[in-house]
Amino acid sequence: MQRRAALALALLASPFALQAAEPVKVGFLVKQAEEPWFQDEWRFAEQAAKEKGFTLVKIGVPNGEKTLAAIDNLAAQKAVGFVICAPDVKLGVAINRAAKRNNLKVMSVDDQLVDGGGKPIAGIPHMGISGYEIGKQVGAGLLAEIKARGWKLDEVGVLRVAYDQLPTGRDRTMGAADALKAAGVPAANLIDAPQAKTDTESAFNAANIAFTKNAKFKKWVAFGLNDEAALGAVRAAEGRGIKADAMLAIGIGGSQTALNEFTKPTPTAFFGTVLISPKRHGYETAIAVYEWATAGKTPPPVTLTSGVLMTRQNQGELRKQMGL
Ligand code: GLA
Repeated sequence: MQRRAALALALLASPFALQAAEPVKVGFLVKQAEEPWFQDEWRFAEQAAKEKGFTLVKIGVPNGEKTLAAIDNLAAQKAVGFVICAPDVKLGVAINRAAKRNNLKVMSVDDQLVDGGGKPIAGIPHMGISGYEIGKQVGAGLLAEIKARGWKLDEVGVLRVAYDQLPTGRDRTMGAADALKAAGVPAANLIDAPQAKTDTESAFNAANIAFTKNAKFKKWVAFGLNDEAALGAVRAAEGRGIKADAMLAIGIGGSQTALNEFTKPTPTAFFGTVLISPKRHGYETAIAVYEWATAGKTPPPVTLTSGVLMTRQNQGELRKQMGL
């Protein structure tokens, strides 16, 4: 009896020891949880959590309401911070306010949060791809294959599946368009197909309309901000009888969406993708927030990652090199 009482007293006297036993929690919020890229990011963030000994809380945030609810939820769970790819970068101010109110560290990944004027929010570190440069790599890849096929630059329709409200989306597709124009593709051959969301279905719908309106082109190249955008264009073209011999698309990503295309027995018009690193984006951002909250190590304001062209031919080797 006496011993029990002593133990109870000791527990009462050391609430900090009890708290310390609870694992640190870090949130990882993504706009499109079903997209393979984000699945990969989560997977590598989990790896970071396991290695460093924290708990990762993964939440899909398809809209603004769910985003703010997720932040409150993290606060209620006593998380120390979170990484976020928001459904709309203009939620930046609201996200920052909610994080501050709850004393949570916040870092953005993929899509950089902006304020009402469209400026990146100071104080929210960011890791994303170098959009314009990677777009230029898409353009260069398309040009090389146009040349290999002996197509003339002025006979090719260029479909830009566009999601311009997202700055990285605009940068990526403008980089590709600029590379093609610089090589001699007439500006008039550039057709914009604005998509409503960044998934395959929205890209399919956007591309379908553009192909219908521009039936004069018999050969096409297509690109968008991610693999899903490029794939939507490929599927829409197939539906109109434009197959791999008359169509060429290069995406950005290199996750399962691209791999599914590369492993089909007959090559489709999904010619390639610029492989980017879900490992860096998932693993490094999760650790950055963890160390920021627990060791006071502030992440660098902006980290931009690079990519490399991947096709059917080099996919296995490249993914291995990138640790994927
Ligand atoms: C954006 C896109 C995603 C993916 C990431 C990569 O968030 O919507 O599909 O390309 O960028 O940074």
